[in-house]
Amino acid sequence: MAVLLFAGIAVAILFSIFFFMKSGKEMPKNWSQLVAEIKVQQVGFFGIVEDILLRGANKVDLYKQPGKIALVTGGNRGIGLRIVKKLVECDIEVILGVRNPDASKKAVEKYLTEEGNLLAGAKLHYEQLDIGSMKSVRAFASRVQAKFDKIHLLINNAGVMGVPYKLTDEGFESHMAINYYGHFLLTHLLIPQLRAAGSPECAARIVNVSSCVNKVGDIKYGDINRTKDYYPAEAYNQSKLVQVLFAKHTNLQFEEDNVPIRSYAVHPGVVNTDLFENSSTTYIPWLRQLLFKNPEQGSRTIVYAAIAPELEGKGGTYLSNCRLTTCHRFWKNSVQCDKLFRFTCDTLGIKDFFHKEPSK
Ligand SMILES: NC(=O)c1ccc[n+]([C@@H]2O[C@H](COP(=O)([O-])OP(=O)(O)OC[C@H]3O[C@@H](n4cnc5c(N)ncnc54)[C@H](OP(=O)(O)O)[C@@H]3O)[C@@H](O)[C@H]2O)c1
Repeated sequence: MAVLLFAGIAVAILFSIFFFMKSGKEMPKNWSQLVAEIKVQQVGFFGIVEDILLRGANKVDLYKQPGKIALVTGGNRGIGLRIVKKLVECDIEVILGVRNPDASKKAVEKYLTEEGNLLAGAKLHYEQLDIGSMKSVRAFASRVQAKFDKIHLLINNAGVMGVPYKLTDEGFESHMAINYYGHFLLTHLLIPQLRAAGSPECAARIVNVSSCVNKVGDIKYGDINRTKDYYPAEAYNQSKLVQVLFAKHTNLQFEEDNVPIRSYAVHPGVVNTDLFENSSTTYIPWLRQLLFKNPEQGSRTIVYAAIAPELEGKGGTYLSNCRLTTCHRFWKNSVQCDKLFRFTCDTLGIKDFFHKEPSK
């Protein structure tokens, strides 16, 4: 084990140096950024090794579930597109929350047609959503609520990685806004629809698409937007850590309150998608093709978390390669989960996240 760890660190350092030299990407500016970069490369390296070793475990049984409704953010390309395909194969009706509904419709219809004429009979709805804008999230949720009384599966998938520093119009750093705050708010707004869909035998499910880098994430409460000393990898890691803690906390509350909704967090694998466009690996595409999962393989654990009957009663778990596994040490720390939850409610002005008070 120690030898493997040492080898991993050595490979991570070599990869970091090699990739940076090839890519012309901005070099880490200080010690803390260098350490962050090495940690990411190391977690990525072990992620790839795990994906290769557990290739046989990474599978999901698709079965027909007519009458169910799923909502997927960012289902127009990458892993999300393959999630949508699998849900369609299960006869699940899918609402896609996407930035460009017309272009997304074309892309999804083309893909489903090419993949064995799955379009016939597919029930798909395309709704405009910029998940990084809380205004857009509220408008989107209102439209969804007006059309659907029930949502059985909420898959919080849309995301960005390694983007340059930018604050949204509402003053949130992009990784936090898109990967976390938008999904936090959306989940809050759709709890009535999820609760209506769930039953004691078959809970509605929320799946947060996180990443293995949550393990090296930290939460800078004093500077959550990372205005000082911004390093994209650190911002991404933070946004993926808070996603898992959010799933853990909501699940605990649902269980305590006997609400038929369960939350899961997932690492999809290290997957060859456009997510890496700001990564140094962009400059070495053959490496990604050779070693990374393809997007279809990347969608499996997410769909598994959403539909696997054996996960009934196992909410509040973190999955990778269709298996329960461990993540950041805060995962089992309810004080940290609660702290983050309160911080986020305060940040977004949410008073009653779980809709416990009767609406007036
Ligand atoms: N690829 C990996 O190795 C990997 C590993 C761990 C975790 N993940 C996670 O998996 C999820 C999917 O990633 P991917 O690899 O499929 O990436 P991708 O191919 O780059 O797709 C990203 C998706 O998110 C959508 N999106 C981005 N910003 C958005 C916004 N502001 N509003 C609405 N939608 C937005 C994109 O829509 P547009 O077409 O409009 O841009 C697109 O559908 C992400 O949460 C990512 O963090 C991926």
